[in-house]
Amino acid sequence: MWHGRFKHDTAKIVQDYTQSLDIDWRMYEADIQGSIAHVRMLAKTGLLTHDESAKIEAGLKRVLAEIQEGKFTPSLALEDVHMNIEARLTEIEPLGAKLHTARSRNDQVATTTRLYLRTRLQSLSTDLHALLQVLAENSRRHLNVIIPGYTHMQQAQPVSMGHYWLAWHEAFSRDNDRLNFALASLNECPLGAGALAGSTLPIDREYTSELLGFSHPTRNSLDTVANRDYMMDYHHFASTFMIHISRLCTDLITWNTQEFGFIVLPDEFCTGSSMMPQKKNPDVLELARGKTGQVIGNMIDLLVNLKGLPMTYNRDLQEDKRGLWASLDTVTHTARIISALLERVDVDEARALSGFAKGYALATDIAEFLVMKGVPFREAHAIVGRLVGWCIENGLAFGDLTVEQWREHVPGFDESMLEILTVQASVRRRETYGGTGFAQVERQIGEIRG
Ligand code: ARG
Repeated sequence: MWHGRFKHDTAKIVQDYTQSLDIDWRMYEADIQGSIAHVRMLAKTGLLTHDESAKIEAGLKRVLAEIQEGKFTPSLALEDVHMNIEARLTEIEPLGAKLHTARSRNDQVATTTRLYLRTRLQSLSTDLHALLQVLAENSRRHLNVIIPGYTHMQQAQPVSMGHYWLAWHEAFSRDNDRLNFALASLNECPLGAGALAGSTLPIDREYTSELLGFSHPTRNSLDTVANRDYMMDYHHFASTFMIHISRLCTDLITWNTQEFGFIVLPDEFCTGSSMMPQKKNPDVLELARGKTGQVIGNMIDLLVNLKGLPMTYNRDLQEDKRGLWASLDTVTHTARIISALLERVDVDEARALSGFAKGYALATDIAEFLVMKGVPFREAHAIVGRLVGWCIENGLAFGDLTVEQWREHVPGFDESMLEILTVQASVRRRETYGGTGFAQVERQIGEIRG
């Protein structure tokens, strides 16, 4: 494509090193879509006749069909998807030589990538909504199931399992916001920025932008070919999403142990051991957690690539897509498999409840009962703290105490306190906005549905 300036062909070793076909070939459809919009614009402004534009468009569609039918083998010598398509077009239709009028690969790469990424992010958005849906359904399904809530992995207070699922619904909803932000961030049309400075030819950037469904053309041509912020925005979404997935997986892996046994994973989502016949391992959850590092790594790869680059296009930018594809594939597969697994996860209610037997998860409830009797909270905290210490020394749970023992250790005790000393009451009574009370959780389910 640039033979005019050179006396010698590019060395084979350089062709192999500099090609990007292995990364960008998958964008062929978006690239052709961009080229069709470009030639239509060239016809509108009179840079091509309508007849020329129609012939080029027909040629591009034929190239697309050849690719889809597996009849087109691209060549590494042509470097990338863009030059391969243009070269094949020009073989079919000599007018193809006019396609690149008022265009550079710099604005073309940016356009093609945004178009491709837009399609992928829209489909990812559907997957994310499916995940949110499953969490909302699990929340309803497990609304009345009570599990120990933990801080520091120490039993803290009883919570509704429905509340737990909604916690992840919150986190993934924020991820959805970040995904939408990435979609908004890519929603500008680079075509017409040229190599870096625009064009002397009378093009209509508004029209191209409209044809490609972008909200407007990019504002500054230098920035246009330098900018990869929309990719960083995607990676921020992707990394945050995977970190959430990873933490969720850790909970489920822990609760699936013989020691906890709170949840039951579907057989179809577990694997066995080649040696130990009893094993049922939560490999899907472990792998999702394990893949998180790669997704974060792909973000770091781009950040480090960009950090030292001068304005505007530099060939380093060709490396921006390798990690992007890897990340998109991992995030998409992970969202889908985790949704499918969560849909079938069951809770062993009895095991979850038995987890409370020797714990003191109702200690705060006692202290708050005393507060309602007028005892200052710090004093109530100390009273219950001493009671817990005494119970531990004597090997007793709250449930083992006689009324006399209660009276002896808790000034202000009366029998109405025993009524609130159940895990059910403990959850039910936490009616503050956003709290774990059953009615609250139901209300929250209603809010997110809305
Ligand atoms: N294959 C290159 C890429 O994907 C095309 C950009 C060419 N631009 C240039 N100035 N060499 O980024």
